Amino acid sequence: MTRTVVISGATSGVGQALAQRYAAPGTVLGLIGRDVERLRRVAADARQRGATVVTAAIDVCDRAAMYAWSRQLDRDHPIDLVIANAGVMEGTPPGGVIEPANAAYDLMRTNVLGVMNTVQPVLDAMVARGRGQVAIMSSIAAFIPLADSPSYCASKSAVLSYGLSLRALLARRGIRVSVICPGYIETPMMLRENGPKPFKMSVERAANLIATGLERDRAVISFPAFFAWMTWLNGILPDCLRRQLSRSFRFTVSPRG
Ligand SMILES: NC(=O)c1ccc[n+]([C@@H]2O[C@H](COP(=O)([O-])OP(=O)(O)OC[C@H]3O[C@@H](n4cnc5c(N)ncnc54)[C@H](OP(=O)(O)O)[C@@H]3O)[C@@H](O)[C@H]2O)c1
Repeated sequence: MTRTVVISGATSGVGQALAQRYAAPGTVLGLIGRDVERLRRVAADARQRGATVVTAAIDVCDRAAMYAWSRQLDRDHPIDLVIANAGVMEGTPPGGVIEPANAAYDLMRTNVLGVMNTVQPVLDAMVARGRGQVAIMSSIAAFIPLADSPSYCASKSAVLSYGLSLRALLARRGIRVSVICPGYIETPMMLRENGPKPFKMSVERAANLIATGLERDRAVISFPAFFAWMTWLNGILPDCLRRQLSRSFRFTVSPRG
């Protein structure tokens, strides 16, 4: 029996590691990313591992293109699992005061509307089949407002809420929805952040934890566990106390190269 898995943001970091993790004989992988050369390399690696690969060099913000591609793929290979992973991160630039406005608006489009453009097109077909799985990439940043990345925290809180709402809605339709909230993972995105990165982990370990969490149908897949709990507890503290405690947790984000 074949299984079809769609991964957005498959050209780098977590998405690339997930593509490697799911690439196997009997799996059709639908890989999305904008960088054509990196997409070609990730696809070639997945084919070598035995997967059938369909690529899409699409910007996840392009709603029409995402609907057209996803629905065509679903007609050819009914989608079992869609992982809306593509995302960007912005924050206070080195020597600056607040994240650049254009970057913040772009971030909200990618991290919120891009996630919707990845998930929404396949929901009707999954509901009609009475089965399917959706994974949405959020972050531990969803649990706590951070002074140095307002738009990133807001975007990740938005998709956490979106995913858990879909989970509540679609559970009785046979569709499993999980939201992934990791801490620091060693990827090109993380390297742009200048500041403390407690409990950071390799991208391979993160991909394994995500895959295991999805097999177990966890509502929220958050890791490392201790850091996730600490962050969540910090997030529910009264504002004045939380700000006192987070005073030393400041960082900057270098511009995208
Ligand atoms: N690294 C961490 O510490 C960490 C922690 C928590 C959550 N996350 C989340 O994990 C996800 C992956 O991050 P990462 O660390 O793997 O970052 P990364 O190495 O920078 O990879 C980001 C991926 O997203 C894709 N992407 C970005 N904008 C896109 C767009 N408009 N359309 C299509 N693809 C787009 C990029 O592909 P192209 O450049 O080819 O378009 C790339 O494949 C993000 O949602 C991030 O917020 C990361």
